[in-house]
Amino acid sequence: MNYSSSISFFFFIILLVQLISISSATYNEQDQNKKSPLDVDLPVGDIGLDDSFASSEILQSDEWPSSSYYHRRCPNKNVEKIINKKVKEWVDKDYKIAPSLLRLHYHDCAVRGCDGSILLNNEGSERRANVSKTLRGFEMIDDIKAELEKECPETVSCADILAAAARDATVLLGGEYWDVPFGRKDGRVSIGKEADIVPMGHDNVTTLLEFFQSMGLEVSDLVILSGAHTIGRTSCAQVQDRIYNYKGTGKPDPSINEKYLNFLQRRCRWASEDAELDAETPWKFDNMYYKNLQNGLGLLPTDQLLLSDKRTEPIAKALASMPSFLYGQIFGASMKKFGKVNVLSGDEGEIRTNCNFVNSHSY
Ligand code: HEM
Ligand SMILES: *[C@@H]1O[C@H](CO)[C@@H](O)[C@H](O)[C@H]1NC(C)=O
Ligand SMILES: *[C@@H]1O[C@H](CO)[C@@H](O)[C@H](O)[C@H]1NC(C)=O
Repeated sequence: MNYSSSISFFFFIILLVQLISISSATYNEQDQNKKSPLDVDLPVGDIGLDDSFASSEILQSDEWPSSSYYHRRCPNKNVEKIINKKVKEWVDKDYKIAPSLLRLHYHDCAVRGCDGSILLNNEGSERRANVSKTLRGFEMIDDIKAELEKECPETVSCADILAAAARDATVLLGGEYWDVPFGRKDGRVSIGKEADIVPMGHDNVTTLLEFFQSMGLEVSDLVILSGAHTIGRTSCAQVQDRIYNYKGTGKPDPSINEKYLNFLQRRCRWASEDAELDAETPWKFDNMYYKNLQNGLGLLPTDQLLLSDKRTEPIAKALASMPSFLYGQIFGASMKKFGKVNVLSGDEGEIRTNCNFVNSHSY
């Protein structure tokens, strides 16, 4: 083993240890009933307020963060199952919406925490900011919310819906299931200018790390969560400078694989076109993203940069070298942590009745 590969082997072990400690801490009955990741019938349906639940040895908390948060608040209904059914309906119609949901949850949590602020649709809100222009999936969240308002009025927050829908969408594309704790409240504030801090792909690694650190996350989380770009697409506008005029040189970025460059130059002639973020397996949640980086197939500038920084490179290499399902579990553990960023709970915030607007009567 040379020096570089022994470093990434070291990180491989660190990531495994991290995973084992996180998953044993969150182990519960949902995991026991887990079926194959592609089996869309999530196990949550098997748990209700029945005897087996009552006699469960696991201590069930009723407040944020808790996976049984809605059991008492929405008895006889299964909130997670209702969300899952809707997500599956939408993804069945158009699988390209699945990555958009994951990204929507990310953009929600990245600004003011996971508080549904990205969904507020008023003048000057995050949703109306430039960085939000290519966000998709809002109609789907509205549809899920409308269904939940029928089943369980004024009970389920938009922030919680986003978190569960993002997980379900990821699982539908082959990702590993992770347990989503509930009890987030919806915020009443959304400011477009604040959204401008969300990196859009032209940042350096230091900026990315600082951004993640500001959310209480670590270097490993940045690398692990960036692997979300193993699914979905980008508008060509984000990458045109990289393929035609890198840093004003009039030439493409030399780190791009030659064949891939050729493909991209044809694919991205117009800024309004889209290109898949993972050229190899764009609609499958796997660890191909990291393998691609090693072959010069990273698409966003920030993706490819993960391999050229000493702080992120060994982690990216370790993630490339493990089986996909293991990466999926590591991703899930990191998402679970990410979904707790600056959450409003208890008396803070509100439960919106329409995800697009704050409840006016709450003032
Ligand atoms: C590390 C910093 C990140 C940067 C710079 C970044 C940047 C971007 C950009 C520029 C796009 C394409 C937008 C467009 O169409 O114009 C995108 C798409 C996407 N991002 Fe990120 N992202 C980052 C982190 C994340 C994280 C943490 C997640 C989720 C955990 C995520 C999930 C996604 C997904 C799933 C898509 C595809 C969306 C779709 O197909 O609709 N990204 N990202
Ligand atoms: C947002 O985009 C518009 C149109 O492309 C541009 O005129 C405006 O300056 C941008 N605003 C910010 C804050 O970047
Ligand atoms: C990274 O980008 C920031 C903001 O654009 C800049 O201030 C900083 O000097 C850059 N750092 C490096 C190491 O290039």
